[in-house]
Formats: sequence, C-alpha cells, structure tokens
Amino acid sequence: MTCSILVGGAWGDEGKGKCITYLCSNDKPEIIARAGVGPNAGHSVEFNGEKYGLRLTPSGFVHTDAKLMIGAGVLVNPDVLFKEFEDLKKYNVKERMCVDPRCAIITEDHINRDKSSEHLSKKIGSTGSGCGPANSDRVMRDIQIARDTPELEEYLTDVSLACNEAIDNGEEVFIEGSQGFALSLYYGSFPYVTSKDTTASTFAADVGVGPTKVDEVINVFKSYISRVGEGPFPTEMTQEEAERQGLEEYGVVTGRRRRIGYFDMELAKESCRINGATQIALTCVDKLFDCARVQDYDELSGETKRFIDEIQAETGVPVTIISTGPDLKDTIDLRKELL
Ligand code: GTP
Ligand code: IMP
Ligand code: MG
Repeated sequence: MTCSILVGGAWGDEGKGKCITYLCSNDKPEIIARAGVGPNAGHSVEFNGEKYGLRLTPSGFVHTDAKLMIGAGVLVNPDVLFKEFEDLKKYNVKERMCVDPRCAIITEDHINRDKSSEHLSKKIGSTGSGCGPANSDRVMRDIQIARDTPELEEYLTDVSLACNEAIDNGEEVFIEGSQGFALSLYYGSFPYVTSKDTTASTFAADVGVGPTKVDEVINVFKSYISRVGEGPFPTEMTQEEAERQGLEEYGVVTGRRRRIGYFDMELAKESCRINGATQIALTCVDKLFDCARVQDYDELSGETKRFIDEIQAETGVPVTIISTGPDLKDTIDLRKELL
C-alpha cells in the first residue's frame, strides 16, 4: 500500500479538489490527511451533481470509509470547520474528523489583523483568512493550540501517530497539500507568497510523516496558469485574451478574479524538482484543447498529446492523470500503463 502526497504545481487552484476526489474515490485510502497552510485554501469538489467549496475539510471526504485528519502543521479556524461539518452533513464528515492537538488556532483577532494590514491585504493581496498573522504568532510561540480549545476536544487525535501506524500496517494514506509551489514562503515569488513553505516535504512534516515513508508525490498542474493576488507572473496574458480563450476564473474563498497565463514550463520543471514529483496530474485540458469529457487517451488530438509529451520530456515526470472536465468520470488515468 502507498503513502501519497498531492501538491499544487503553481500558484494554487490547479484543480487539486477534483484530482483528490478522483484519486480517493478510486484508491480508497484508509486515511485522508489535510496538510498545508490553513483555511486560506479553497478547493472545489463536484460530486453527484453537487458542488462544494472546501477550506479545511480534506477534499477526499466523498470516500466515506476514510478517516479525515488535519495535521499538526495546519492552522484551524473552528468556525470554518464547524460550518463545513454542517454543509457536508450527509457525508458524516464531523463523525470522521480528527484534529491534531498541536494545530494552532485562528481567532477573530488574526482575521482582523490580516484584513486591516495594508501590507498583507493590499501589497501581498492575502485572502484575509487570518493565516499570515496566525503563523506569525505561532513562530513567536504566542498562539492558542487545539489541545487548549474545548470545542475541539472531541476531535483531538495524534494525527502523526495514526498516519504512521496506518503506513506500518500496510494501509493507504493520502496527504492533501493546499496552495501551490509558487506560493511557497521559501521557493515562491517572495514576498508575494503565503505564510509557509508549500512543497511536498513540508506537507509530510505537517502531518508528521517522515520523508522515507512517502512513496508518491503527485504534482497537479492546470493546462494554463492562474494566480490570485499580487506578484510576478511571467506568462500572464491580458484579461481580453483570457476571455477570448474562455479561461476567466474567480476565487473560491475571496471571489476575486484570477489572473490567467500560459503554461510555464520553467516553473513546472522547478516545481517538479523541489517537490520531488513522481507523477503529474494535468487538469482542464479540455479548456485548452477540444477534448471535453474524453476518457480514453487515444481519443486525444495529436496537438494535445504533443503538449503532454513535452511536459513529460521537460520535467522527466510521467503525466499519469489527465482531467478533461469537472466530473470524476472526465478523467484519463494512465497509472496502470505508466507506473
Ligand atoms: P485547488 O485550489 O487546486 O483545489 O483548485 P480548486 O479545486 O480550488 O480549483 P478551482 O477553484 O479553480 O476550481 C476549478 C473548477 O474547475 C471547479 O469547478 C472544478 O470542478 C473544475 N475543474 C477541475 N478540473 C477540471 C477539468 O479538468 N476541466 C474542467 N473544465 N473543469 C475542471
Ligand atoms: P495568504 O495565504 O492569505 O496570506 O495570502 C498570500 C497570497 O497567497 C495571496 O496572493 C493569496 O491570494 C495567495 N493564496 C493563499 N492561499 C491560496 C490558495 O489556496 N489558492 C490560491 N492562492 C492562494
Ligand atoms: Mg483553490
């Protein structure tokens, strides 16, 4: 059995939500553990004709036999978590959720500081979810943690212990990273980044799994690139061009219009190298090429296949998952052929 980490390849919003839902529905991991910064994330999941926007709950929740976990490195806003329990009631998310006692807690004060800071909200273009100020307090060792939060008491579980025991027992563990490589505090376009490293190594640390226990790192790229917030974007296209190509997008958390650009091979290569990617999942191929809902690789056009081949050749990483639409069925899964 396998311990996998899924990461975003660029500035977030690569369609991780869809990929995670597909992979977890298929592979049925025993544990799905959320890593990453916190509720600044927004993952879109479309399942059985319904659409969900998630900020803390693992996107793999649709696999209802899995335990859902939030790793120690993740910032938790209990209000956000409890709202998701309500929204996802029919999936028994509340009953399956485990929160590591070492998670740090976002309060109203962090959110106010995030929104009222010219530097964060205007210059960086933060999501206003309080993550930056909370991670700052965490580094200063001056923040409330989950084990001192009575409302979280019933969910507290040693996530690291649970994940490691599962791995040792030969069970499948799926670790969901949030954000994306180019938003990393270390490797992204500083200072226009989020408040933590967002590469695979940190996601493993977030849930307390050591690097020697990880088998697969799945790096998710969209066929074009989007970015919310400020900062450099070498392959950015004009808004008019994005509209002409039908690529305009709006953020899940903030509703902000996303900046859109062409696929960036140099970024893809760096992202695969630093994440130690073993597989690439490529999403929204249908938005760039005429292949909506195609489920068979042979039905892709020559142009689409050349695009995929070029990504594989340049990064040295196999493209194992090709997404051709929002529905789980709109997926070409080449893992059996390529791995
Ligand atoms: P992450 O932040 O990476 O999780 O991305 P996201 O899930 O937040 O992506 P986003 O909010 O940008 O939503 C993408 C939208 O496109 C959602 O409505 C998805 O259901 C949908 N989507 C995902 N993959 C595909 C795809 O391959 N083709 C199309 N046409 N839509 C997709
Ligand atoms: P913060 O993480 O809210 O401090 O925001 C810092 C920067 O990261 C801003 O440009 C945000 O738009 C961006 N960001 C943070 N999380 C996400 C995400 O999940 N998707 C896309 N952008 C994000
Ligand atoms: Mg998103």
